Amino acid sequence: MKEENKSASGKGVMGGIIFFAGFILALIIGWVVFPNLLYSQKPQPMNFNHVAHQDSSCEDCHAFRADGTYAGIPKVEKCKECHESPMGSTEDERKLVEEYIQKDTEIPWRIYSWQPDNVYFSHAPHKAKKVECKECHGIMGSEKTLPAYKDNRITGYSKETMKMIVCEECHAERGVNNECELCHK
Ligand code: HEC
Ligand code: HEC
Ligand code: HEC
Ligand code: HEC
Ligand code: HEC
Repeated sequence: MKEENKSASGKGVMGGIIFFAGFILALIIGWVVFPNLLYSQKPQPMNFNHVAHQDSSCEDCHAFRADGTYAGIPKVEKCKECHESPMGSTEDERKLVEEYIQKDTEIPWRIYSWQPDNVYFSHAPHKAKKVECKECHGIMGSEKTLPAYKDNRITGYSKETMKMIVCEECHAERGVNNECELCHK
């Protein structure tokens, strides 16, 4: 009697272990394997160190045009103002000077934040309401290295793109309209 009970509960434990192992495997596939398959990591042309450029203001490089629309990433012309010849001795700077400035070639930066075409976004109304860069872009503007760039194999957009829920949460908090047509024209 005692023996039987023991083996029955033994089976229960075994089943539990098998179930648990399967459960863990599913979590690993869902959280580690699938996201790694979904995103492919691509290199940036060189690192860009924001800390080395703290003497310039953000808008020196990421300029807003006079009408409030946005000019984006600086052209190599801008880099040339200071890097016509190297100031230091890093490999990234050598590359900048020899491969881009001297050849007058634009640097093919990969953009973390670009949104799908069906989304309308403008920096202007956000700047007008003094929403800070870091509220949307995090601390990227004060890092020594650019983060890894990963794009979604299905949509082609970077993993870093701001998600709809994040836009809507802030709009709700600040009493901004959240109708579909505001962001989808
Ligand atoms: C000397 C020029 C320069 C200055 C000054 C500068 N940046 Fe940048 N920034 C760059 C370059 C070059 C990149 C790389 C482009 C890329 O994202 O691949 C970049 C990338 C970024 C990105 C990522 C954009 C994206 O979606 O890919 C953000 C956000 C950013 N900078 C914010 C800032 C902020 C905030 C400041 C001020 C604290 C600042 N930057 C100052 C040149 C500059
Ligand atoms: C206003 C002047 C200025 C402009 C404009 C500027 N830089 Fe720099 N950059 C600096 C200074 C200063 C340093 C630091 C030099 C040092 O300490 O060796 C630096 C350093 C660098 C380095 C080497 C730092 C490292 O950690 O490897 C790279 C690469 C670089 N800049 C890229 C760029 C690019 C790309 C642009 C254009 C988007 C740009 N810079 C525009 C002033 C400037
Ligand atoms: C309300 C959120 C928000 C704020 C605030 C914001 N950005 Fe952006 N930024 C975005 C989004 C979203 C994109 C992608 C836009 C697109 O797809 O065209 C973007 C794009 C960019 C890019 C990519 C370059 C390009 O050509 O579009 C840079 C660089 C950038 N922002 C820098 C800044 C800087 C610097 C500030 C502060 C002065 C700032 N952003 C403030 C949300 C924001
Ligand atoms: C951190 C807060 C914040 C985030 C995040 C944010 N917004 Fe906004 N948004 C605002 C504020 C504040 C306004 C200004 C409303 C006003 O002018 O009264 C605004 C206004 C707008 C407008 C209206 C412009 C107009 O012409 O009236 C659009 C479109 C918009 N946001 C799109 C977006 C999109 C798309 C995203 C996400 C990619 C986003 N916003 C993320 C705070 C935010
Ligand atoms: C404040 C801005 C904003 C508003 C309001 C908004 N969206 Fe979006 N929407 C986005 C952004 C940004 C994306 C792209 C990023 C993403 O996929 O999350 C997006 C993506 C989508 C997608 C693509 C599917 C997906 O998840 O990638 C659909 C469908 C969509 N929105 C439908 C709607 C509908 C329906 C409404 C109204 C109920 C709405 N959106 C309101 C910003 C907004």
